[in-house]
Amino acid sequence: MQNKQSIHGAWANRWIFILAATGSAVGLGNIWKFPYIAGENGGGAFVLVYLFCILLVGVPIMMAEVLVGRRGRQSPINSMREVAYEAGHHGRWAGVGWMGALAGFFIFSFYSVVAGWVLYYIAGMGSGKFVDIGSEEAGQMFGALLEDPETLLIWHSLFVVLVMMVIAGGVNKGLERATRVLMPLLFVLLFVLLAYSINSGYFAEGWDFLFHFEPEALTWNAVLVALGHAFFTLSLGMGSIMAYGSYMGKRDSIGGTVLAIAGLDTLVALIAGLAIFPIVFGNQLDPGAGPGLMFITLPVAFSQMAGGQVFGFLFFLMVGFAAWTSAISLMEPGAAWLVETLGLSRTKASILLGVLVWLLGLLALGSFNVTSDFLIFGMTAFDFLDFLTANIMLPLGGFFVAVFVGWYLTREMSEDELALRSSLIYQLWRVVIRYVSPVAVAVIFALNLYQKLVG
Ligand code: PHE
Repeated sequence: MQNKQSIHGAWANRWIFILAATGSAVGLGNIWKFPYIAGENGGGAFVLVYLFCILLVGVPIMMAEVLVGRRGRQSPINSMREVAYEAGHHGRWAGVGWMGALAGFFIFSFYSVVAGWVLYYIAGMGSGKFVDIGSEEAGQMFGALLEDPETLLIWHSLFVVLVMMVIAGGVNKGLERATRVLMPLLFVLLFVLLAYSINSGYFAEGWDFLFHFEPEALTWNAVLVALGHAFFTLSLGMGSIMAYGSYMGKRDSIGGTVLAIAGLDTLVALIAGLAIFPIVFGNQLDPGAGPGLMFITLPVAFSQMAGGQVFGFLFFLMVGFAAWTSAISLMEPGAAWLVETLGLSRTKASILLGVLVWLLGLLALGSFNVTSDFLIFGMTAFDFLDFLTANIMLPLGGFFVAVFVGWYLTREMSEDELALRSSLIYQLWRVVIRYVSPVAVAVIFALNLYQKLVG
């Protein structure tokens, strides 16, 4: 059974898997979300906790997810069930896959709205809308976009269609080739932007903001946000990486692959932060500006640099591609399940899911204009969907995967599947996945709950 293949296909080789999973991981979370939540949560204090979460919680859980996916060779829902059976346990572990599919659906709905902003900025850069603007104008232009539901709708819809097209084409076609070309380009452009910010004269301020650790700036809420973001940015806790793992070659090493993916993802987030904050400080912008941060700072920077229009266009194009490859992985677990269990074609599965996420996306989209008064626990639908998924559903999903793999799988199963080079490393991983990762998630959850109830 260990040598079976997924009915959906398989990655051509190990590097394709690394690139595809990095394509899933590197997205709006790195370039849009990381800088603004770091800005809102005091910079350095947040970044340090975030790095700890990546290493102690993210990496071991990513290994666990890939392990289950490759062992089960099916959609996360069915893989969880299969692998639970194989280990002699109850099929209700499939529930973890279900919660993940639901989380993916929720994430997609607001992700697509932000990706829509990116598409709008690609068009705007291309048509010269952002030539010679200052920070004030950039802020106004972004505000005007948010207040315009029709424009938002067009770009949100376009993004959903783009993702549906790839999902309909299946695992191998399109996606592999796209990641091969797009990911290196993304890195090149990020480095160019970094070079600009190093030369902007405010690089030291940006660096200091991200890496200067002030313990008193740390709050429990920031720790929860850092933990949640570690899951979000690594695409963990909802099945994306598990689904991608189910297409991975049997002989490829899970440990090294996962380290590469997590390392690249972290690198991109830090570079994005180092590119954006010097611009923030150089233009007297507010680092805690929230979701609009990237959409306000970058146009200002591009309007000041030589060739900025072309470069701005290319840059937003790359952000769009990054968002695209991530959104594909948000939809893949659900699509694979529909194909496996209901026997739908890839096309039908993608249409069904596309319509659903498009509809929920309307609520997220309206949060900035027509339905801004509709609040859930005091949050707009957009903020609520973000909070619920990143800070609750993903950590919870990751917690259960860790418990499942650490405590319910037989030792033989995980040792065989990971095939780590040294038994010492395996031992270490096993201690982390059994104790450190789940306990860290549980403690952070509990302390936050306590804070909210008492504080
Ligand atoms: N990791 C993606 C990003 O950082 C978002 C994502 C989350 C994708 C969960 C898939 C699953 O943008």
